[in-house]
Amino acid sequence: MKRVALLISGGGSNMETLARDMAGDHAARPVLVVSNVRDAGGLAKARALGIETAVVEHKPFKKDRAAFEAALGDVLQRARPDIICLAGFMRILTADFVANWEGKILNIHPSLLPKYKGLNTHARALEAGDTEAGCSVHLVTAALDEGPVLGQSRVPVHIDDSPETLAARVLEQEHILYPLVLRRFAAGDVTQVRLPAP
Ligand code: GRF
Repeated sequence: MKRVALLISGGGSNMETLARDMAGDHAARPVLVVSNVRDAGGLAKARALGIETAVVEHKPFKKDRAAFEAALGDVLQRARPDIICLAGFMRILTADFVANWEGKILNIHPSLLPKYKGLNTHARALEAGDTEAGCSVHLVTAALDEGPVLGQSRVPVHIDDSPETLAARVLEQEHILYPLVLRRFAAGDVTQVRLPAP
């Protein structure tokens, strides 16, 4: 049974969807939810699901990213995760941190990578006049939003979309894509998931 730690910064809807999916017939189980934000809504969701939680705030460490990651790493080591899922986790992890967990960290990014790495992905897609958008699950490597893509889901962009309406449509797909990719990844299958299914 693979042990999964989930990192959040906010509402944790992706974390909750992943945890609920692991409650069934699944090769993995959630063992810890860590937030870098003390009052993140996702912490209450995790507790309601009976998952152990921890908070490692980045603020007290100010610019000392290495010290924050050392504290985060200690908390993670104790949970002995086989897989780490970044789920709405809004901190950039350094190459050193990623190297400690090489090949074990997944992330969901709200764009069709390699397009729109970084932030404000929906506004940028609308600005560019894209007719489709979506989300990607990828392995985390040292470079931001660069790792091998394990799955993508596409949605149409509507003419009257705002970043908010597009984000809501993409988030629905995140909740379908991420559990599908984690199921396969936990079973050692890294063949790409492409949604909607052709
Ligand atoms: C979502 O917009 C998702 O695209 C990004 O983080 C945001 C919040 O996700 N990964 P969640 O509800 O906290 O899972």
